[in-house]
Amino acid sequence: MAPLEGPRGPRGWERGYKGPGGPLDRPGGGTMSDGAVGGGLEAVAESYRRFQPRAYLVNNYRPPRGDLSRPDGVGPWKLGCLAQTFASGERSGGEGTGDGGAGGGPGTQASGFPPPGEVRGRSLLDVGSGPTVYQLLSACAHFEDITMTDFLEVNRRELRDWLCRDPGAFDWSPYSRHVCLIEGKGETWQDKERQLRERVKRVLPIDVHQDQPLGSAGAGTVPVDALVSAFCLEAVSPDKASFQRALDHITTLLRPGGHLLLIGALEESFYLAGSARLAVVPLKEEEVREALARSGYGIRDFRTYSMPASLQTGVDDVRGVFFAWAQKGAAP
Ligand SMILES: C[S@@+](CC[C@H](N)C(=O)[O-])C[C@H]1O[C@@H](n2cnc3c(N)ncnc32)[C@H](O)[C@@H]1O
Repeated sequence: MAPLEGPRGPRGWERGYKGPGGPLDRPGGGTMSDGAVGGGLEAVAESYRRFQPRAYLVNNYRPPRGDLSRPDGVGPWKLGCLAQTFASGERSGGEGTGDGGAGGGPGTQASGFPPPGEVRGRSLLDVGSGPTVYQLLSACAHFEDITMTDFLEVNRRELRDWLCRDPGAFDWSPYSRHVCLIEGKGETWQDKERQLRERVKRVLPIDVHQDQPLGSAGAGTVPVDALVSAFCLEAVSPDKASFQRALDHITTLLRPGGHLLLIGALEESFYLAGSARLAVVPLKEEEVREALARSGYGIRDFRTYSMPASLQTGVDDVRGVFFAWAQKGAAP
């Protein structure tokens, strides 16, 4: 098999990268003012023109924040939340344990609502992937059709480089090794990465400020069985109302009863990515909980992490991180 081709021919993420489009090419080819309110979104989009993926990766995914050996680190905390949430499906379901059979055990596809405690299905969409893949290392055992997305072409290119095993791609192997360790299934990190690469079927442009965030490219892909989104919505929303609308928009991409795993910053007002200084809407735990409820989710789990002083490195002013597991349409 050619490295860029799956059994059904060239993958969407390969096709997407070869097409025309500048750094801010957007789903449907519209302008930032489509469906947007005020100039706040224009300013956010403008600030992202300077976003430098490699600087962002170094700031957040290389030591000290990328030191996965320290038990109080933010990396182990995030990876642990994700691994435990996906493992809860394995315990209660007794199937879909990463053997490629995640395409629909009893109760997953047929009824529309999987049994409580399970996060699995066929399709998963990662909203605002950025240049990172760590957020999918546990998910990929449970979903055979994964879509990655980002607003910026430079980030989609970073993803493509990793997916294609480009020698210059960012090295996620410390993360892959760590996830294999905490999952405790005896899987090698190479097999973990192989499975993730096989299961990411496409990388698409996205704009969470649009009523249809994927535009016409989403046809045939959504609604999905699960959404993942890490550090995106609060980092691209000029205010809380915009955050709420963005959450509403991405919720349309999820089927009723589907699961959202949302990770984000608490009480952060900015972060740096090279020469870019990106504004972030500061959120409190209660505000995230309320936003999820307003968008029609039942919260299944909510955890918070307090950033240790030693990890407050000046690349942002984040105070903490939240992890929410929410189910669309479930009782609050
Ligand atoms: C803080 S980064 C998060 C990256 C990654 N998910 C992570 O966990 O590190 C925020 C991401 O949102 C993307 N973004 C910017 N504007 C967006 C928009 N309107 N819709 C969706 N994503 C956007 C940026 O390109 C960037 O990759």
